[in-house]
Amino acid sequence: MFRRDPAVATCLGALNTTWQERLRLFRARVGPPWWAPGLVLTPELRAGYETYLPVAEFAADLARLGDRLLPHPSWVPHLLRARDGGACPLPRPDGPASLPDLWALLPEALAGHLCFAADALPALFCALADPPHFGTAAERYPAQQERFAALCTTHPRGRLRLLDLACGVGLGTFASAALAAGYGGRRVDTVGLTLEPLEAWMAAQQSLPHDRPRQRRLQDLAAGVSGVHFAAADVRRLPVQGPFDIILCNGLIGGTLLHHGPDLLDLLAGCCGALAPAGWLLIANRFHDGRRTHVERFAELARERRWEVAGDWHDLALRRR
Ligand SMILES: C[S@@+](CC[C@H](N)C(=O)[O-])C[C@H]1O[C@@H](n2cnc3c(N)ncnc32)[C@H](O)[C@@H]1O
Repeated sequence: MFRRDPAVATCLGALNTTWQERLRLFRARVGPPWWAPGLVLTPELRAGYETYLPVAEFAADLARLGDRLLPHPSWVPHLLRARDGGACPLPRPDGPASLPDLWALLPEALAGHLCFAADALPALFCALADPPHFGTAAERYPAQQERFAALCTTHPRGRLRLLDLACGVGLGTFASAALAAGYGGRRVDTVGLTLEPLEAWMAAQQSLPHDRPRQRRLQDLAAGVSGVHFAAADVRRLPVQGPFDIILCNGLIGGTLLHHGPDLLDLLAGCCGALAPAGWLLIANRFHDGRRTHVERFAELARERRWEVAGDWHDLALRRR
């Protein structure tokens, strides 16, 4: 999946040479403290890094490397790309403000580095596609799991069709599919959709090159679960027709990644088209109180569009009236 041809080697060689020389200059001109894990990021520290090692240029070089390494330019993690998907013009408003901010998103083995061995590239790009703040995990939403289990118990048909939107690297998807299959031994067909093609690849392969402990957890969750498929898609333009009996969408709606009115309406319209007539849309999050009004705004938009909405802002259940 990750290419290892001369074009990758040449691009990696150029990146390593350029940034090794820049790092040498930086070290010669800016005194310590240099960044190390745990060091507080002061404005001075950020300014020093930005003067000699601008994060936008580093991200652009990584994006160019990703173009060669990955199956298609659209696989380059969004963190390295412009909003329109083009080459990187960091700092984007939601992107890292300096190199130390970018390093703070990476596992310890990769943070603090500007040059990489070819073997480290899968872990580097997977880490950039699955940063810690995505935190995809199973069992994050116990209240939703209870509701989900109750719906599975009462689901009338022998087959249950489940869609997990913004599924990340799939831990919650496998956990939900396993839970659904445990009720009545029925067949469960599950689709997980998420923005990053690399996330969908990691979920489908149950491979997290940047996070082996979490990979073991993913593999345990997936063991014995069948009928689960993953694809990359933007929830604002759902590429599925359904019908699905249950749609999950966790850790996304009303958060920093998706809260603008038109985006919420596009998501609602897509879910409306993809849900079976008596189907449920279950939405959970663990956002801090600052996001509450955004989630409540979503619930209000749904009610205005003839959805019945139950639950509180951390755990909503919607169905069409
Ligand atoms: C906070 S994580 C939540 C992951 C998982 N659902 C959970 O709750 O554990 C947010 C996920 O939403 C995905 N995402 C962000 N914007 C998206 C969009 N427009 N369409 C699809 N997925 C999106 C991200 O790639 C990331 O995997």
